[in-house]
Amino acid sequence: MAVVQIKKNVYWVGAIDWNDHDFHGYSTAPKGTTYNAYLVIDDKITLFDTVKEEFKMDLYHQIRSLVKLEDIDYIVANHMEPDHSGALPWIMEQVQPEKLFCSKMGKKALEEQYHHPEWPYEIVGTGDSISLGKKSVQFMETRMVHWPDSMFSFIPEDKLLFSQDAFGQNLASVERFDDEVDFEALMKETSFYYANIVLPYSPQVRKVFTNLTNIGWDISMIAPDHGVVWRSHVDKIIAAYDAYSKQVTGKKAVIVYDTMWHSTEKMAKAIGEGLTDEGISYVLMHVKAFHHSQVMGELANATGIICGSSTHNNGILPLVADFLTYMKGLRPMGRVGAAFGSYGWSGESVKQITEIMESANIEMVTEGARVKNRPTHNDLTGCRELGRLVGKAIKEKLATNE
Ligand code: FEO
Repeated sequence: MAVVQIKKNVYWVGAIDWNDHDFHGYSTAPKGTTYNAYLVIDDKITLFDTVKEEFKMDLYHQIRSLVKLEDIDYIVANHMEPDHSGALPWIMEQVQPEKLFCSKMGKKALEEQYHHPEWPYEIVGTGDSISLGKKSVQFMETRMVHWPDSMFSFIPEDKLLFSQDAFGQNLASVERFDDEVDFEALMKETSFYYANIVLPYSPQVRKVFTNLTNIGWDISMIAPDHGVVWRSHVDKIIAAYDAYSKQVTGKKAVIVYDTMWHSTEKMAKAIGEGLTDEGISYVLMHVKAFHHSQVMGELANATGIICGSSTHNNGILPLVADFLTYMKGLRPMGRVGAAFGSYGWSGESVKQITEIMESANIEMVTEGARVKNRPTHNDLTGCRELGRLVGKAIKEKLATNE
């Protein structure tokens, strides 16, 4: 794809990865992602971030259509995760820049990752600025949004924020701007990205908002390192991140389960009826039908998480354990939950699910529902009651948060 001018003399020079469907456990299927890099042409020609190593020739051709590589003066590394720095060693060799700007933690991480202590590092931090000629760049560290090294760069003359992972989406498209794609689909991808990448760092996102207020940048365009550039919906994406980071949820529950011979599945459906009795919306997600990152995407705006598994070899079915491990790592806050499952003779799954969910700070509403072999009508009535209890707890939780 050709370069795209996003502001006068500021160009998107990144790469589209149509085939990436697994970003360390986050399934981006079916849409892939982009690795966004930006080139500013001024007295000091400056490259902001690079791309995954295997896309370095895409980056090269993009830049070469504007300038020669050796004409680049500065490189800014806003984030050193390899999807943005993988091509950096090759680019550094070609460009031999005057300076490589990064945060203090960025220098440490880049040295550990690429072992080039001779690179012309220039450490910048919050409040620092540099001149490129007509334009300037201001910096703000954003530790843990997404990694310890992360930082934002801001060009005040263009009101343009380079935000690395923040405000990004795993969305592979030839469209480069938020007003060129379907807005509803865009916000869904943005929400899924947050739920699967940024969620555990929500307290740090709150801090970034405070720092942005203090620093007073007047932002009219946000250029993240993944997905489209925000130019028409800047207020909406900032409001969305405000809500995501506060983990604002609604009258919704996610029932996620695996089942061996459909008994646990029958329980899941009865639990759903109980939620409906209480006016709670829900989604029923079989772990074999939905990837764990899709479940997290649904949990993003749900207050309840109800997890079920048949007992299998005295434990939890493997894909349920996989989901619980993934969810725990993403640290959702302010959720209530319950566990359920059928069993043949030993029946440990409900207790084990409960323990994992408690360790993930989910407030468990009941001791859970266990059914031996096939559920009877009375068993399913009990499951429906469990659904009602969780539904009531969801409403209480939301009332407390108001
Ligand atoms: Fe897109 Fe944290 O890397």
